Amino acid sequence: MEVSPEPALTAGREIAKLSFGKAAMVEMSKLVSLCKRRGFVFPSSEIYGGLSSCWDFGPLGVELKNNIKRAWWQKMVQEREDVVGLDSSILMHTQTWVASGHLDSFADPLVECKSCHLRWRADEVKDGRCPSCGGELTEPRLFNLMFKTFMGPVENEAAVVYLRPETAQGMFVNFQNVLRASRKKLPFGIAQIGKAFRNEITPGNFIFRTREFEQMELEYFVKPGEDEKWFQYWLEERLNWYVELGIKRENLRLREHLGKELAHYAKACYDIEYRFPMGWAELEGIANRTDFDLTQHSQHSGENLSYFDEETGERFIPYVIEPSAGVERSALAFLTEAYDEEVDEKGEVRVVLRLHSKLAPVKVAVLPLSRNEKLVPPAREIAAELRKDFMVQYDDAQSIGRRYRRQDEIGTPFCVTIDFQSLEDNQVTIRERDSMKQIRVPIPELKNTLSAKLEGEDFSVLPPGGSYWLGF
Ligand code: GAP
Repeated sequence: MEVSPEPALTAGREIAKLSFGKAAMVEMSKLVSLCKRRGFVFPSSEIYGGLSSCWDFGPLGVELKNNIKRAWWQKMVQEREDVVGLDSSILMHTQTWVASGHLDSFADPLVECKSCHLRWRADEVKDGRCPSCGGELTEPRLFNLMFKTFMGPVENEAAVVYLRPETAQGMFVNFQNVLRASRKKLPFGIAQIGKAFRNEITPGNFIFRTREFEQMELEYFVKPGEDEKWFQYWLEERLNWYVELGIKRENLRLREHLGKELAHYAKACYDIEYRFPMGWAELEGIANRTDFDLTQHSQHSGENLSYFDEETGERFIPYVIEPSAGVERSALAFLTEAYDEEVDEKGEVRVVLRLHSKLAPVKVAVLPLSRNEKLVPPAREIAAELRKDFMVQYDDAQSIGRRYRRQDEIGTPFCVTIDFQSLEDNQVTIRERDSMKQIRVPIPELKNTLSAKLEGEDFSVLPPGGSYWLGF
């Protein structure tokens, strides 16, 4: 199937300016507050007043990010015969950035206010005056987005190294190493997940644009001439990945890069955009980087980075298709999509994160009906047993209703409740987050039942000895 962009989006740079609508702002602020309160995301170095655009991922945030990375790795590496992984270093030889063009071209034009000296991205200034004080602005000057540091004890020009602004170059410079070691044939890919750093001029929108972030990138090497076919293939694959993990198709769209927006290395590029709380914006980029990077690195290093095709006897530099996604941006998209509020029969608001079970930070909560001394030991025992297979939270504080709400708010798909009847019939109830329905299952069946439900089995399917509970 050919994936075509929505017609309205092929006409040029239609990216939503990241301005907040009033209703959208509420939603983002709710997300930010939930993330802080429940331990998904904290402002970095908060006790010192925070560090602009840097965020720390708390106990639930680190689970969410790990689950996103695991789901990506499973789809992009584990399930494929034609892709292998890599973990290259963040600091690379400076010639890498000369060859890749980042030292010359990875820059934004900036203007500076002659009065207050604030700097602005030239394309974001509307009327030629400083947005802060209205002062006169300088002519635009290019500002390189790479972070610079020094390697070793001497801080001179020869010791300058850069923090990588993309993980991609690690895969290009290792092309021959990986090819030799893995004995792959075209088409094949190298995948990597890792930190990248950009001294963004206008970071913001919570974890959407930050100066330190993680990328999940694939460099998929193909024969020249087959690149357009593979480009279409990866557009479709990547869209499907988000949909399979719970993002509605209508909240995703493709947007083509045209003219000046096209990166210096690309022949074609599409963004997968998501309808974030602040508007449509890039979630992932998919680029046809042609043979640009391997050619550049061949020329600058003197190493031959060509490929010999044994079938045709030809030698050539492969083309590369690159799907490149951000971990934090994906997390923001999944959180946005999952956030829901329901009003219950008492008029109280139930906040639910309807996260896909693969992404949910906690898979199962174990809740004794009360802190009664007879219920706590078996409940703790069940929690300890389930922990061998799942991320589990044990909670016995406050009423059962409040504990269900606490789990709903962090997206826990299933709650297991141990009550007095459990002591007699050796059964517990499982409550499903989304429907709030409950089934009762024998304790020996609990682990298998939870595994099956987490894998997507319909909640109404009962294990041996199971029954529907409380008017299911
Ligand atoms: N290797 C190609 C590349 O880096 P990109 O479009 O600049 O392409 C790819 O970045 C993805 O990385 C983006 O779609 C986004 O998800 C993520 N990303 C880029 N800059 C980011 C930033 N400053 N903060 C958070 N994520 C970012």
